[in-house]
Amino acid sequence: MTVACSPTKHSKQKDAEAEIARRVDSVLALMTLEEKALQVSQVAAWFDVKTKKTIISEDHLAKAKAGVGSFLMVSEASVARKLQEAAMQSRLKIPLIFGFDVIHGYRTTFPIPLAESCSWDTAIAYKSARVAATEAASAGINWTFAPMVDIARDARWGRIIEGAGEDPYLGALFAAARVRGFQGEDLSANNTIAACAKHFAAYGAAEGGRDYNTADISERTLREVYLPPFKAAVEAGAQTVMTSFNEIAGVPSSINKYLLTDILRKEWKFNGFVVSDWESIDEVVVHGAAKDYEESAQKAITAGVDMDMEGESYPKHLAKLVREKKVSQETLNQAVRNILRVKFKLGLFDDPFRYINEAREKETMLKAEHRALAREAAAKSIVLLKNENDLLPLSKSLKTVAVVGALAQSKRDMLGEWEMVGMPDDVVSPLEAIQATLKTATVLYAKGYELPAPAWKKRKGETKEPTEAELAALRNEALNVAKRADVVIAVVGETADLTAEAHSRADIGLPIGQEELLKELRKLGKPIVMVMTNGRPLAISWAAENLPAIVCAWHLGVEAGNAICDVLFGDVNPTGKLTVTFPRSVGQIPIYYNHKNTGRPSQPENEIDRYKSRYIDLPDSPLYPFGYGLSYTTFEYSDLKLSKKEINTNETLTATVTVKNTGKRDGVETAQLYVRDVVGTFTRPVKELKGFQKVELKAGEAKTITFKIGKEELAMLDKNFKPVVEPGEFEVYVGSDSRAPLKERFTVK
Ligand code: GLC
Repeated sequence: MTVACSPTKHSKQKDAEAEIARRVDSVLALMTLEEKALQVSQVAAWFDVKTKKTIISEDHLAKAKAGVGSFLMVSEASVARKLQEAAMQSRLKIPLIFGFDVIHGYRTTFPIPLAESCSWDTAIAYKSARVAATEAASAGINWTFAPMVDIARDARWGRIIEGAGEDPYLGALFAAARVRGFQGEDLSANNTIAACAKHFAAYGAAEGGRDYNTADISERTLREVYLPPFKAAVEAGAQTVMTSFNEIAGVPSSINKYLLTDILRKEWKFNGFVVSDWESIDEVVVHGAAKDYEESAQKAITAGVDMDMEGESYPKHLAKLVREKKVSQETLNQAVRNILRVKFKLGLFDDPFRYINEAREKETMLKAEHRALAREAAAKSIVLLKNENDLLPLSKSLKTVAVVGALAQSKRDMLGEWEMVGMPDDVVSPLEAIQATLKTATVLYAKGYELPAPAWKKRKGETKEPTEAELAALRNEALNVAKRADVVIAVVGETADLTAEAHSRADIGLPIGQEELLKELRKLGKPIVMVMTNGRPLAISWAAENLPAIVCAWHLGVEAGNAICDVLFGDVNPTGKLTVTFPRSVGQIPIYYNHKNTGRPSQPENEIDRYKSRYIDLPDSPLYPFGYGLSYTTFEYSDLKLSKKEINTNETLTATVTVKNTGKRDGVETAQLYVRDVVGTFTRPVKELKGFQKVELKAGEAKTITFKIGKEELAMLDKNFKPVVEPGEFEVYVGSDSRAPLKERFTVK
């Protein structure tokens, strides 16, 4: 969506761009071939995840003095200062750009992005990115490797935590909001940073949900499912894009000219720079698409990768390739121009130390208003999955509560795996928050199980599986405290290091010992609330069947405990809605709502006909569908009406629907609009999310809301992948999740 600028603003923008282009070319003209080859190279400092300190060596300083273009992993203003001072000793004094993984907050850690997407609140996403940028920029960082905008339909894939779930429409909205939040209104301000849309592209389509694995998808699927959030990020002004590790249909993304030049530059007019992922240019050799680093460098720079993250290909081979005319001078010049342009926009040439201010760094981190926003975002990210007989919210005047589960007091795990400079000591744990909330109650605690660790840690001998005897002892301890309580709050789920990069899981059930604990607790016949801290959808069919209340609390950041209590004890009426489908079993994956009909669609309501696309050993439906989430009140949808039954391809119509709060508490419902193009030149999904509205309703109140339906909502991609509204039948669905039973049809002539 292009926002029309006023003539003066437009011409001012053009003049500014022309001035930057002139300045870029004046620097470029002075650079030697070696300096250009260094400018397109990025070097990693050593970031210690435990101490959160950055370590640099003499070699790092030497590289800065020689004119390397960028460093990553620098997390402190004082270290950035040393490196920038070294860069100012280089021949041309070209400033460094400092990149860092500011994925969901900086020192104030926000909910993991997947959790935040369940708020369906792009304003929150904008604001949390704004805070993250403000804190990161105060530490000397001027570029984040975020937002990750990969669509993910496979819960086995650990990086599902980093995006906005399975839907292209919602993913595009969150991509744009996060880009705008990081970059703000003025990229040269010292509280805004360049964004990076990653990982381009289709990284989430990895076969088997195995990280870094092959993505073998059609161009139609690429364009309909995986590219929309990237396009939205570019349209929102993202200054950088990062290539993905995977190949698509035989071509590794870091040498994919069709992606990086034809689509990104020519079709989308992207004018920032492209950075590879970590050593992903070197890895083109491992893919088997280049015989050595010289060839991978030649293919990558020609395809359109401007900067080599921590690889050898560019710094060691580019100058030689140009001298031997295997890469044209202009190709290298263009990569350098793209990088210099962003550095000019960031204001780094005007003041290389603009983002480096140790005093500002100290006063900016963890401000009270940052924590307050983190708490609001966290509460809005929580999805209420089950609440039988309104067990929740719990009363604050409970006498004795048993909190069971090692995760209840694990501050580290509430931060999620991409916590970077987030500190466990900053976190309010669920146990602490429950103790602080229930001032008059007796709060008992038992660990109940061992914190699970990923298999590779066991393989390295860093941890070991608990024995059955150890688990039984922990269960007994938990049963003993539970027997003395009026209510049991069982906190189960994943540790942070079962999720994120290089943490794909073949089994997405609750980790070892947790379900057995729940089963034993269930036998006590006490009210049990299951609070799940997770980074992906988990297969929790037993709990869904047998426990009265389930809260999906993800990894919520520094305010995790307080947000969980805000919901558990009713200070917040939960509003979260799933942005990823929860499968009944890992065997159902991939399972997502916007699937094709096939020639033999399964009908969940008619599961006896075997000759349908289904499993013989599972129901057809997911455990919890896309868009699902309960409230402490109830909502009813009625009177879905269309303003017209027939339109032509350029017309719009409106759909109105009445939403009523039929419960006893005020609440906010996210009403969802889905569209189906019944017959297309190419088959269409059975439903596609095309709009949603948050409706605040007092108990008993009803409102009629309106959705506009036109080309944006109806278009599909024609054989040339251009948007077109095809005449024919369309269906409109509105409801509280993707099952959306209310349906109306209309015709496009
Ligand atoms: C990693 C990730 C990427 C991250 C980069 C720098 O391998 O794939 O998302 O930004 O390296 O840490």
